Amino acid sequence: MTERVVLAYSGGLDTSVAIPYLAEQVGGEVIAVALDVGQGGEDMEVIRQRALDCGAVESVVVDAKDEFAADFCLPALRANALYMDRYPLVSALSRPLIVRHLVEAAQRYGGTVVSHGCTGKGNDQVRFEVGIGALAPGLKVIAPARDFAWTRDKAIALAEEKGLPIDVSHRSPYSIDQNLWGRAVETGFLEDIWNSPIEELYSYTANPAEPRDADEVTITFDQGDPVAVDGETVTPLEAVAELNRRAGAQGIGRLDMVEDRLVGIKSREVYEAPGAIALIAAHQELENVTVERDVARFKRSVDQRWGELVYDGLWFSPLKDALDAFIADTQKYVTGEVRLTLHGGRAVVTGRRSEASLYDFGMATYDTGDTFDQSLAKGFVQLWGLPSRMASARNKRLG
Ligand code: ARG
Repeated sequence: MTERVVLAYSGGLDTSVAIPYLAEQVGGEVIAVALDVGQGGEDMEVIRQRALDCGAVESVVVDAKDEFAADFCLPALRANALYMDRYPLVSALSRPLIVRHLVEAAQRYGGTVVSHGCTGKGNDQVRFEVGIGALAPGLKVIAPARDFAWTRDKAIALAEEKGLPIDVSHRSPYSIDQNLWGRAVETGFLEDIWNSPIEELYSYTANPAEPRDADEVTITFDQGDPVAVDGETVTPLEAVAELNRRAGAQGIGRLDMVEDRLVGIKSREVYEAPGAIALIAAHQELENVTVERDVARFKRSVDQRWGELVYDGLWFSPLKDALDAFIADTQKYVTGEVRLTLHGGRAVVTGRRSEASLYDFGMATYDTGDTFDQSLAKGFVQLWGLPSRMASARNKRLG
């Protein structure tokens, strides 16, 4: 039986060269699968045709933007997911979506092998292969760039040797991955971690240092999900796209960080995620208003763990499922509106209102109308401090 290889296809040099290479290596046929996850750039039809021109027997392109927004970006928002307190998991979120579609294509076209273009040094190989293992444990995996030690020169030589219709002349010095949730840029001069990022690295965000008028936006949430922007009802995709545009224009969401990769190395990455950063700021504040204190405190550690699991390629895992169930429960009352001022690279919350608010004016006020019974505080403070007082007395007694 001829093997059929389902390839995660981007349209770029490496995955294009992989098509004839894989066909030769496994003596089989290649099915290319390319997803639109909001990365922009080339027309998906051009990408579909290129895979065929490179020798794929089937070429599938999927507009997965709505699915990505609803099933991956929104769960990340409900978890306020920021790996190492900063990175909103841009690439880590798209991989399990791609896995879903690779497995679907394998089932539809009789694929027995799955292939991707990742190297052996990154997180994405882990996310692809652990995901495939969880959804379709019978599939084999080949990663030509990793398993056959490709270099850029070797890939170009292969492309020329096979006469593939790909332009290898002007290739970016950076490795870039981008989607609806944000953009990641690495390699090139950034590998010297003392070098400052330069303006030309950015494409989702304007320079935050340039003078411009502030923007003000009101986001409406329903059980943790953004459902309207400035009163206009939006789909998940529209919510993220609109915030990317508005926050991006104010230079919000640029990050320059050294991060801990799963494979053990530290790497330097420059990110821009304007919509994600603005939405998380708003969502977090609405949680501050509507989530009970102990649930909120506990959720912070759940959020952090959720981000680590997703970063580490465990989207499809029992712990991630269990944390999702906890997070879903916490979002029942995260309904209301948050107003943000977008300016100078920052999204600042300036107002919040909610039917489900736990903020009680009468309890909080220092003016007339106070409903808080201050006489209760005296005894409370005494008892709260009792264990420390007793321990301290004991310590003194024993020296
Ligand atoms: N370091 C990020 C992650 O592991 C992004 C990976 C892809 N980045 C890139 N520039 N190609 O999620």
